[in-house]
Amino acid sequence: MNTEIISINDEEFNSKLIEAGQIIKKGGLVAFPTETVYGLGGDALNPESSKKIYGAKGRPSDNPLIVHIAKIDDIYKIADGVDERALKLMKSCWPGPLTIVLRKKDIVPYETTGGLDTVAVRMPKNECALKFIELSGGFIAAPSANSSGRPSPTMASHVYEDLGGKIEMIIDGGDADIGVESTIVDLSGDVPMLLRPGYIDILLLKEILGEISIDPSIAGNVSAGDRPKAPGMMYRHYAPKGDMYIVKGNQDAVINKINELVDSDEAAGKKAGIIALEETADNYKCGIIRMAGSEKDEASIAKKIYAILREFDSLGVDIIYSEEFDTPRLGMAIMNRLMKAAGHKVINLKED
Ligand code: TXA
Ligand code: MG
Repeated sequence: MNTEIISINDEEFNSKLIEAGQIIKKGGLVAFPTETVYGLGGDALNPESSKKIYGAKGRPSDNPLIVHIAKIDDIYKIADGVDERALKLMKSCWPGPLTIVLRKKDIVPYETTGGLDTVAVRMPKNECALKFIELSGGFIAAPSANSSGRPSPTMASHVYEDLGGKIEMIIDGGDADIGVESTIVDLSGDVPMLLRPGYIDILLLKEILGEISIDPSIAGNVSAGDRPKAPGMMYRHYAPKGDMYIVKGNQDAVINKINELVDSDEAAGKKAGIIALEETADNYKCGIIRMAGSEKDEASIAKKIYAILREFDSLGVDIIYSEEFDTPRLGMAIMNRLMKAAGHKVINLKED
């Protein structure tokens, strides 16, 4: 299949976007930009489209898809139990990087929800995404537009790398603003539960909701029997091809350790990559050094991590060392993704 790429900078973009909507209505797939990461969109109410999404991504079909809407009130068409808590979240965070899980209505096929009786709903904050959703009939099922197991795409070129030839169209809307996937909150139970940390952080959620629990599988103390409530959190996602380690400890100790490790890796003929901060990068002596962002600007770190992991893949990096970015608000989301990328492998230099 030929994958057409259209760009928001094209002269005939508006008419191309109408075509994108028609592709969705006919059951095809279109990747589109959102403020978090690029999504792989299909008609959420068409079971065949959802099956195609799983096929194109190579994703297990028990891993449910998020339904994206363009108008707040459309949530009532697909979800039950839109209560006071949901309304508060929608009012504070929509459009934006927050996904809410509620009981599904019959109109949403089980193919879209991976067999669950709940549905995840999000209204993205990206003009192009909102127009596209509206032109497509209003309900777009979209996982991140990467092949299953690869880092999520934050640029149209990442989408093409993974899905070129497998989907009808890619809408290029430039770099994603946020760079990590939406925060997911489950409201289908008595107490709201954070299923995936993201840009809307736990402190803000506590302010809005009063109380919220955290899925134990993301709280860091996972035991073998724990199954995360968001099925997708179970898979070894976001994985680079190289073997990856998070190095934790005080800044000087971390820098010294990484320098030592990279030195011996390179002596053994391996290509090593380092993920550092703008503030620390100059201290590394060898290896391929990439700056995630500045410690003074948490959002700049979140924005870059997936692109760096992909770049390391394309450079054929064998081994990756990342500093820990334990920042106050976004640290939870950033480290959740990096720990998964590393398969939870940590070199701990902390004294406790
Ligand atoms: O930022 C985002 O959320 C991006 C953009 C494209 O909107 N989408 C995204 O989708 O990250 P995906 O499919 O890569 O991740 C969706 C996550 C998975 O972990 C899935 O298991 C979980 O949401 N999920 C979806 N529906 C659910 C449900 N009904 N109950 C619990 N978890 C659900
Ligand atoms: Mg994903």
